[in-house]
Amino acid sequence: MKKIIALVGSRAGAKSHTKELCEKLIHELGQGLKEELSAEIITADRWHINGCLSCGCCFKEGLCAQDKKDDMAAIKEKLLSADIILLASPVFAANISGDMKTLIDRLSLWLHIMPLIGKIGIPVCTASSNHANRVIDYLKEMLEYMGASAPVSAAAYVDFGDVLMGDENNLKSYLKEKAGIVQQQIKSGLSFTEKQERVFGLQNAKFKKQLQFLELYPSFQHTFGEAVQWNRLGYDKYDSIHEIASQTFITKSGRDQYSIW
Ligand SMILES: Cc1cc2nc3c(=O)[nH]c(=O)nc-3n(C[C@H](O)[C@H](O)[C@H](O)COP(=O)(O)O)c2cc1C
Repeated sequence: MKKIIALVGSRAGAKSHTKELCEKLIHELGQGLKEELSAEIITADRWHINGCLSCGCCFKEGLCAQDKKDDMAAIKEKLLSADIILLASPVFAANISGDMKTLIDRLSLWLHIMPLIGKIGIPVCTASSNHANRVIDYLKEMLEYMGASAPVSAAAYVDFGDVLMGDENNLKSYLKEKAGIVQQQIKSGLSFTEKQERVFGLQNAKFKKQLQFLELYPSFQHTFGEAVQWNRLGYDKYDSIHEIASQTFITKSGRDQYSIW
């Protein structure tokens, strides 16, 4: 069983174009997979996420005090237990939607500790006529910082330009091609960018040192909260992102067993 979670930064709910694009992509992903697929799509009208308070506690303590007060803890659990993650946003004023930005701001700690290693992330966007590329590039960058492999993206214009929404045949073949690449990665193994490998190496060296320090002075755990989370993820036992991916790679569904938040 492969699990997909799609977080859609649109409040249009059932009428959301971006949700529709996610549904169609998930359909194509399911076509070529031998295993069963379970998928959950959540649009922004169904989540309640408070804005970041800029307290910096996530970076220092490894935890966000707000997580228990809104839907963030539940969303983090869903992301950690998924095999494939769709981060999807409409273009609003030439950028991602405010709801998607609020969600990503609250995941800022994850940009430092890469908890999504071993998962596939897919940026998805719809727009009327422009700036879908900017949104896709940004969502891809965020997914990769969080450790996911992002081999494909899906974007569709609604009104002008290369209009795919509403053109069923073209949209189907476009999404089928994307799904094929994902299915191939699931079979052959995930790939990572040079930047991901470099960032992993730097963070691993830093956090391992901090963990040694914490063995001597445990009271500093609230200062080195990121290193504590690195340790809880089990990353300090490894020397490369590839080793972790081979242990927790989605084909092994190794991550479902533990929950760190
Ligand atoms: C507030 C707002 C701002 C928008 N800004 C842009 C824009 O800058 N460029 C663009 O191409 N489309 C823009 N659109 C159009 C949406 O991106 C497009 O209709 C999208 O498919 C909506 O997705 P949804 O149905 O999932 O909400 C905007 C729509 C809204 C409501």
